[in-house]
Amino acid sequence: MEIIIKDTYEQVSCAAADVVAATLHTKPNAVLGLATGSTPLGLYKELIRMHQEGTLDFAQVTSFNLDEYVGLSRRHPQSYHRFMHEHLFAHVNIPEPNRHVPSGTSDNYREYCRWYEARIEECGGIDLQVLGIGGDGHIAFNEPGSSLGSRTRIKTLAKQTLEDNARFFESADDVPRYAITMGVGTILESRRIVLIANGENKAEAVADAIEGPVTSMCTASALQMHRDTIVILDRGAASKLKMIDYYEWIQANQQDAPR
Ligand code: F6R
Repeated sequence: MEIIIKDTYEQVSCAAADVVAATLHTKPNAVLGLATGSTPLGLYKELIRMHQEGTLDFAQVTSFNLDEYVGLSRRHPQSYHRFMHEHLFAHVNIPEPNRHVPSGTSDNYREYCRWYEARIEECGGIDLQVLGIGGDGHIAFNEPGSSLGSRTRIKTLAKQTLEDNARFFESADDVPRYAITMGVGTILESRRIVLIANGENKAEAVADAIEGPVTSMCTASALQMHRDTIVILDRGAASKLKMIDYYEWIQANQQDAPR
């Protein structure tokens, strides 16, 4: 894992956007894994800026989103379909047939989840997966206790997630109880992963994920097993890391490291 600590959320967003841009510059037809939530908003803004300035082209990109609430139609204001449209898809040129967001309204989820997994494979697998992290250490909607080998499936959301996400709904009671989500195993198959987090409310989850044991009780800790994960944090999210001085030392001395 490479740990990068930035002073501000804006710097986190720009650093993450640089990782995405570098991927697309090397492989214009890359397959991107995308996340929703508050964390990637700055990243998406930056990608849109690059696209509008003419330095980033998504014409050959394929995308797969991590998750969607079960029971929300594509047009529901809190659906992840709508989120992606508003915050990214409407502003960049990823061709519509290439955009995949799991369906929250399937009449056969088992079959649909199988299709989603097969479609990722058919498109060549995910080159770069963008992740946020939940207050309970979840990635996508892989709540504590999720198998670290799990695949795309329906997941019951944990109480903390319902409370965390209540801010987007009228009340916690309105947050859907189930989500369709890529599994931890699905995510770990991505060639590269960039996890971003900001704010002190993520500090404990981030410390558990990076420095704690690999455990299904913090599904982000499974990223310790991944060969190419970059974690980009602001100071708040990094504030509970025991080895913070070492991570900063590595960053400061990176240029001199033997290649
Ligand atoms: C969203 C997702 C979730 C979020 C996490 C953090 O697609 O998969 O795991 O990344 O819940 O959410 P925010 O960024 O709103 O704090």
